[in-house]
Amino acid sequence: MVLRPRNKRSKTSEVADEADSAIASGHVTRQGGRSWTLSAERRVDYDVALVDRIFDLANPTLASSVVAGRSDKARRFVVLDRNIDYLYGQSMRAYFAHYEVACEYLSLEVSEQRKTMESVMRIVHALDRFGIERHDPIVAIGGGVLLDIAGLAASLYRRATPHIRIPTTLVGLVDAGIGVKTGVNHDQHKNCLGSYHPPRSVLVDRTFLATLDRRQLSNGLAEILKLAIVSDRPLFDLLERHGRLLLDERLQGRQGETGDLVALEVLERAISGMLGELSGNLWETSLERLVDFGHSISPLIEMLTLPELLHGEAVALDMALFVIVSHQREMISSTNRDRVLRLIRELELPLVHPVLRDVSVLRRALAETTRHRAGLARLPIPLEIGSVCFVNDVSEDELLIAAKELRELGGYDA
Ligand SMILES: NC(=O)c1ccc[n+]([C@@H]2O[C@H](COP(=O)([O-])OP(=O)(O)OC[C@H]3O[C@@H](n4cnc5c(N)ncnc54)[C@H](O)[C@@H]3O)[C@@H](O)[C@H]2O)c1
Repeated sequence: MVLRPRNKRSKTSEVADEADSAIASGHVTRQGGRSWTLSAERRVDYDVALVDRIFDLANPTLASSVVAGRSDKARRFVVLDRNIDYLYGQSMRAYFAHYEVACEYLSLEVSEQRKTMESVMRIVHALDRFGIERHDPIVAIGGGVLLDIAGLAASLYRRATPHIRIPTTLVGLVDAGIGVKTGVNHDQHKNCLGSYHPPRSVLVDRTFLATLDRRQLSNGLAEILKLAIVSDRPLFDLLERHGRLLLDERLQGRQGETGDLVALEVLERAISGMLGELSGNLWETSLERLVDFGHSISPLIEMLTLPELLHGEAVALDMALFVIVSHQREMISSTNRDRVLRLIRELELPLVHPVLRDVSVLRRALAETTRHRAGLARLPIPLEIGSVCFVNDVSEDELLIAAKELRELGGYDA
């Protein structure tokens, strides 16, 4: 018997209320005398928009999304990566002053090693001091690390404080900034503490990439390559033809129209592809995720080699290894195997690393992934380019052989 279908409540404010959406379609069923079942669905809507030069005074996009729904003068809490503050702090402050948004800024020094609960708590203390009002969004500006930390702080503060994400790295633009996951590392376990906390909106400004390190760009291209291999062959072709140009031009299209069109197409395909993959499985109820390609053994590899390998570099090693496994299992042709390996190198990403010689590391990485994926490894293995299948029976010895083959193919010291 359904006891009490929820009446739709009228919204008292234009500001979206996360709690409202969580209970809007809920109901309680009474099973018998002393047992009830509550069922509720949570609807998620958020916008991801490509916007150029968000701190340009003539561009009101950022100001409108930051103050959305408020007619009075807005106060906002902005948490940002210290390097972004150094590079863009002046124009950012001038921008918010111009649009009369009174901001308090918390500039955090972030790194994979500082991606911890201590950093989350620094934001929490600052939010307390600021006195953030319920429903007012936190504005988070930075790379994947800052966004993951700030997103977790937002999800914990008063159980859910809205946040607006402004990614500033390529990893952030195409991956960390546009999904719903937040997280910090704990005791060598990557993103072990985290939450699913959808942003209120995401503003993607590729002009930030103009100041990003070349190595950091390669790092982001690894996530784009991952998506291309699992689901988007035309994107793979684009990377193959123009990968070096994208790197050289930092996706700014400096050499005129061709570069610009390519950069935009690559970004648009990567963002659409990632959002498409996420939307069908936002809460990861299915643990067979295409986008986990490259993320099977890389979480442990990244943590064990800190600070040597960047996230995308560990992902590249993982992709290379599983492409070899796929070839050994006759799931991908030699031609396509070689195309993938060549492209990884072309994008200035690593193919091999000494840590892959250690069978105990490979065993531990597989075991941790299997635990993380509820008892089955569910390893995405490429089937040619543009699709994958999932397998559960890859052993550490198979990976060890694959790593040896990779070294031989690449002409590295075997
Ligand atoms: N939540 C998710 O779904 C998700 C997805 C993918 C990756 N991630 C996480 O993202 C993190 C990696 O993020 P990342 O690669 O962006 O690294 P990062 O955030 O550490 O940024 C890399 C470096 O670039 C600097 N930087 C940032 N923007 C800059 C700019 N515009 N110009 C110059 N320097 C700039 C930063 O200060 C930092 O030193 C990892 O921790 C990974 O787990 C999360």
